[in-house]
Amino acid sequence: MKDQAASLRSMVSGPEGGNESRTTPRSSKIITVASGKGGVGKSNFTLNFALTLHSLGKKVLVFDADIGMANIDVLMGTRSSYNLYHLLYRHKTIREIIQLGADGLPYIAGGSGMKELFSLSDRDLEFFASEVEDIAQEMDYVIFDTGAGLSKENMRFIGAADECLIVTTPEPTSITDAYALVKVMHSQEHSTPFRMIVNRVEDEREAERVADKIAGVASRFLQTDIPLLGYISEDAQVITAVKKQMPYRLAYPNCKASKDIQRLALRYLAVPAASESGTLSGIRGFMKKWLKRTT
Ligand SMILES: Nc1ncnc2c1ncn2[C@@H]1O[C@H](COP(=O)(O)OP(=O)(O)OP(=O)(O)O)[C@@H](O)[C@H]1O
Ligand SMILES: [Mg+2]
Repeated sequence: MKDQAASLRSMVSGPEGGNESRTTPRSSKIITVASGKGGVGKSNFTLNFALTLHSLGKKVLVFDADIGMANIDVLMGTRSSYNLYHLLYRHKTIREIIQLGADGLPYIAGGSGMKELFSLSDRDLEFFASEVEDIAQEMDYVIFDTGAGLSKENMRFIGAADECLIVTTPEPTSITDAYALVKVMHSQEHSTPFRMIVNRVEDEREAERVADKIAGVASRFLQTDIPLLGYISEDAQVITAVKKQMPYRLAYPNCKASKDIQRLALRYLAVPAASESGTLSGIRGFMKKWLKRTT
């Protein structure tokens, strides 16, 4: 059996082999997946989107940043031996707390460490930041799956990221809560660009209708652009996959939702966020902004 260190070595050298990425720091892009209302499909989106980018040869690290809930573990039927808590109390390095999930996708479970993260001393925060920087430099994308809503913690993640992907469903409550999230971020003068994912739609037209509603009010009242990145169909196979604790993309690669997420990921790679300048602030920028808001 491969030991954890060996698995991590192959993880960072990637599916195409070679160890160039270990020595060449990458400009990783930090993405936060958020929603106003809970239960709209953030964790399923994060996991299946990450798996799709991973299968397209990108180096992706998923960070389960939902305080209190082990979403990513539950969706994969895995149980993390280590989480952020083990890093923060220095028993483990960041490489040791990275778990390899379905298809070898690396992820970090926030677990009980998430709560601690917001009350660390400066010294411990610096340690955390340098550990995260260490691993993120080997990644193309670090994707944070957050809990729902407008908590201080979520907003700090969103505000520090290079981009925020907002998940909504066509339900009116989900739409108004998504808008409320953007509005609060805007009122705090965060400049993180947003893009929208409409989940559980009947068809593309419904996704466009929902996106137009949010984009319309955001542009009118906040002068903010929130383009639609893509949509995922309402698909009974997603529910079955959740019950089986398998990512739908792997359990049912040809189901509607899997095809949608594939299209969405390809579009993601082809179309950068509107306000992206070309130079990402990456993990350094993320940590700088993130740490600033802890004091
Ligand atoms: N495209 C879809 N088609 C059908 N059902 C879906 C779809 N996406 C999500 N669901 C259902 O919604 C449930 C909640 O999804 P998920 O856990 O990803 O939401 P979440 O936004 O992460 O929730 P929380 O806010 O609690 O973290 C899933 O268990 C599944 O039953
Ligand atoms: Mg979730």
